[in-house]
Amino acid sequence: MGLVEKISGKSLKKYLGDIQNRAMVRKTDISDHLPMLFTESLNIELKLIVELGVGDGESTFVLERVANLWGAKLVSVDIDDRAEVSSFKDRIFVQSDDISFAAEFPHWCRRRGFEPVIDILFIDTSHLYDHTVAEIRAWFPYLASRCKVFFHDTNMSEVFVRKDGSTGKGWDNQRGVIRAIEEHLDTHFNEKIDFSLAHRGWFIRHYTICNGFMILERDFA
Ligand SMILES: C[S@@+](CC[C@H](N)C(=O)[O-])C[C@H]1O[C@@H](n2cnc3c(N)ncnc32)[C@H](O)[C@@H]1O
Repeated sequence: MGLVEKISGKSLKKYLGDIQNRAMVRKTDISDHLPMLFTESLNIELKLIVELGVGDGESTFVLERVANLWGAKLVSVDIDDRAEVSSFKDRIFVQSDDISFAAEFPHWCRRRGFEPVIDILFIDTSHLYDHTVAEIRAWFPYLASRCKVFFHDTNMSEVFVRKDGSTGKGWDNQRGVIRAIEEHLDTHFNEKIDFSLAHRGWFIRHYTICNGFMILERDFA
């Protein structure tokens, strides 16, 4: 069943409005990407979303709405206690290092009565190269054949710029996130430009603003 049959256009419109409003009111390093994170998550039938890196809950605000529309579960993982950022009934918060948790993920899911097959994986944690390499290695094996992976912070530097020209303070992660993705896909990207391309079975889109955002989409169905 597609999304259109599953939900009313009314709740979709309300959710998108709420997200656009939040992105306008709370200007963060991810605010520009929130409406797209929502709309990009609507054309893939979902049972399970995994969010690595909760922080103050900007991505959680979006992903819990996506999960609600699809009747999916949202597993949110953070090394710090970020349980309180959401009270969505189908969100399970796990306080853990995401690499350690990945090792027990299949058993953890089955104990709760669902399969360890991820339809949407969202990654926004340390932004460091070694850690991102480890995240790709640990979490990609659980991806469904048809899936989307969202990476924030693919274009980091001392200052980040939003669509409206406003800026915020960033830091130089030495291309940590994008380098790990490049290595996994055995290619090179220019993260200073927006692009879309197909490579090794993935449809890849990249946006430079707000510290960079990359979407990897795969459809082996
Ligand atoms: C930039 S914040 C996430 C922001 C969040 N996605 C949002 O949209 O508001 C990064 C988060 O990753 C968490 N983190 C860092 N290293 C981690 C690790 N090894 N495992 C799990 N979480 C980690 C931090 O505790 C922090 O809350």
